[in-house]
Amino acid sequence: MKLDFISIFPEFFEPLKLSLIGKARDKSIIEIGVHDLRDQAINVHRQVDDTPYGGGAGMVMMPEVWGKAIDKVITQESELIILTPAGQLFNQRMAEELSNSAHLIFACGRYEGIDDRVRQYYLNEGFKVREVSIGDYVLNGGEVAAIVIAEAVSRLIPGVLGNPESIVDESHSEDGYIEYPAFTKPAEWRGIKVPDVLLSGNHAEIAKWRKSAGESRANHNQ
Ligand code: 6GU
Repeated sequence: MKLDFISIFPEFFEPLKLSLIGKARDKSIIEIGVHDLRDQAINVHRQVDDTPYGGGAGMVMMPEVWGKAIDKVITQESELIILTPAGQLFNQRMAEELSNSAHLIFACGRYEGIDDRVRQYYLNEGFKVREVSIGDYVLNGGEVAAIVIAEAVSRLIPGVLGNPESIVDESHSEDGYIEYPAFTKPAEWRGIKVPDVLLSGNHAEIAKWRKSAGESRANHNQ
């Protein structure tokens, strides 16, 4: 899978050199491109934003600049993801869908967002386009959201995780499913004991305990 990030802050994507994603890049399971939007600016001031038609606070990112940046990376197999708090809420189901894509382009907007004609244009041209949000709160830009999505998606790609079983029985692997709490040694820490059943070796009882502990955890989160 290829992941391209377009942003005025390419440095935001340095963490994608680390950990499992960094290793997956070394193994060429995923390829990452980071592109400075300002390289596509159309005037000497390297301007990427302008005042909104209709008035109001903030600035809007210019369509010409975004069009140039996206044209450089988009192909027939690309999916264009526009990061905005006004987008469809990201979840594990969307991560699974996106993990089947060959190429994701993350358009990281700042300010009051990207001129809507960018979305309209690529949709009209027949490309897959979605506006995505990672939660009901507002960030200063789409960069952190793009990293969240990239991490959730790339760990679903075969070969990225060391143990492929770890994505089968984890929180959100099924709608509403929350994983049981985990314990390791020592058996007692600061006066708190690991539940006896987990030390019993009785696998049926352990499975029962885990199911109920996961359910009560899910309820607490409501
Ligand atoms: Cl994708 N962008 C911004 N700016 N804020 C957000 C978001 C995205 N998702 C949640 N809040």
